[in-house]
Amino acid sequence: MKRPDAKTRRMAPLQTPTDLGAAASKDISAAMNLLLADFFALYLKTKNFHWHVSGPHFRDYHLLLDEQADQLYATTDPIAERVRKLGGATLRSIGQISRLQRVLDNDADYVTPLDMLAELREDNQRLAASLREAHAVCEHHGDVATTSLIEVWIDEAERRVWFLYETGRKGA
Ligand SMILES: [Fe+2]
Repeated sequence: MKRPDAKTRRMAPLQTPTDLGAAASKDISAAMNLLLADFFALYLKTKNFHWHVSGPHFRDYHLLLDEQADQLYATTDPIAERVRKLGGATLRSIGQISRLQRVLDNDADYVTPLDMLAELREDNQRLAASLREAHAVCEHHGDVATTSLIEVWIDEAERRVWFLYETGRKGA
């Protein structure tokens, strides 16, 4: 048997076989890549605030935001690998993240600690809503493996919202 040459291998499609069908692969990949961009953007924003937070509650806020950043980052690889398992292509660069992300960056020189907590709380709430939208896309195509992962990520987003809300309560 003749082995394929380098050029043929380079041109080979990256489509992993899936029985969910081409439409499922396309729709779910698109929804998941948007989520992936959001998770990376929110990861870096949470790290940004972890690095730049200041004031009397520094230690608490610094540690809370690190915990939340770790949780966001841990989600990125499973999202990307779901896309590959469904035969789709996933993100390749920071540039692609910046074109797709719906989470807004905050490059301000100074943000008060309470504003940081409030902004992240809103971002995580929006992320939970985006996760629910992606869940509906996966459910439509019968992709129970992705829906079950997304359900866990919704719970995690809601936990982050809860902690950010309680930690940021005025007068607490
Ligand atoms: Fe750190």
